Amino acid sequence: SNPSILILPGDGIGPEVMAEVRKVISWYGEKRDLQFDVSEDLVGGAAYDVHGKPLADETMEKAQEVDAVLLGAVGGPKYDDLDFSVKPERGLLRLRKEMDLYSNLRPAQCFDALADFSSLKKDIVAGLDIMIVRELTSGVYFGEPRGIFEEGNERVGINTQRYTESEIERAARSAFELAMRRNKKLCSMEKANVMESGILWREVVTRVAADYPEVELSHMYADNGAMQLVRAPKQFDVILTDNLFGDILSDCAAMLTGSLGMLPSASLGAPMANGRPKALYEPVHGSAPDIAGQGKANPIACILSFAMALRYSFDQGSEADRLETAVEKVLADGHRTGDLLGEEGVSPISTSEMGDVIIA
Ligand code: NAI
Ligand code: MG
Repeated sequence: SNPSILILPGDGIGPEVMAEVRKVISWYGEKRDLQFDVSEDLVGGAAYDVHGKPLADETMEKAQEVDAVLLGAVGGPKYDDLDFSVKPERGLLRLRKEMDLYSNLRPAQCFDALADFSSLKKDIVAGLDIMIVRELTSGVYFGEPRGIFEEGNERVGINTQRYTESEIERAARSAFELAMRRNKKLCSMEKANVMESGILWREVVTRVAADYPEVELSHMYADNGAMQLVRAPKQFDVILTDNLFGDILSDCAAMLTGSLGMLPSASLGAPMANGRPKALYEPVHGSAPDIAGQGKANPIACILSFAMALRYSFDQGSEADRLETAVEKVLADGHRTGDLLGEEGVSPISTSEMGDVIIA
């Protein structure tokens, strides 16, 4: 049977950029004979409006069964005052948690045509193509004890950085697997100089490396890593790091390359019975209420997220290359949505026009 995809467009510009991904999926069916069973459902505020919660149980069940989930974005001013337990982002968090998506892949890729957009010098970022693998389900954001407690005559805020060996190991394995598909170069970042979890992290990653003798492994303290990312990012290929450092380093790396409207991501979990990993693909950006409903959104982040699905869920690496090459070409040809404008005299094209030129 065909591989299955669950599309969750969500709120704001989510449905607008996802409409372009649907066009791309149809193109693959018609022109490349790559068929997918596509279903669509609600998440975020859109789900709250219908079900009174940001992710219905039936939607959660469907997400567990399909080969890949594609998500647009959730949230918006209409939902800002809702109770925490039914806020749109809780829908997304529930998906990540129940699917146990422990490995978050964030590429930072600089398309030549956009190198001027970087906040760094062009020669530092031109041709950049790195991938940050961030552990997503453990570490200081989840560790117990946590809370604000009374201590003497004042309060103390506590979070706990906690990693088990198996949590480190599964994240490391996913990074090594990725390195094998790329340039066989992996840099692991922690702070083994001052953190116990960092010492264990380095030890476990080194142990896992024995199973991947072809991969060149290095270790770096995460603060130095932040500096190196800005100084000479092209020295890296795959970077593996924990939840907290990964949050910061991936945002930093993202801005090496320009607009939020360009950045895809993948969150992967354990392999399912068919060997494919549990997977959710989504653009890094949010629902952009300021431009929603105006046809201004850049669909590239969402389209590149589908390219990641082709590569990591459907074993269609060369078709993913094809899609990425198309994006590169339309940018080189000068097509720009509003968020990518800089040069004088270039007028922006709409969301659907951008989808059309990519397909063409
Ligand atoms: P945002 O990413 O939605 O927007 C930030 C800025 O970037 C805005 O000026 C927006 O117009 C622009 N932008 C974002 N994506 C773009 C695109 N594809 N094309 C052109 N311009 C784009 O972040 P913001 O404004 O902080 O949050 C807005 C809403 O989105 C909030 O409700 C927030 O909670 C939610 N959000 C959802 C996320 C998700 O679904 N994963 C992630 C981040 C925020
Ligand atoms: Mg962040």
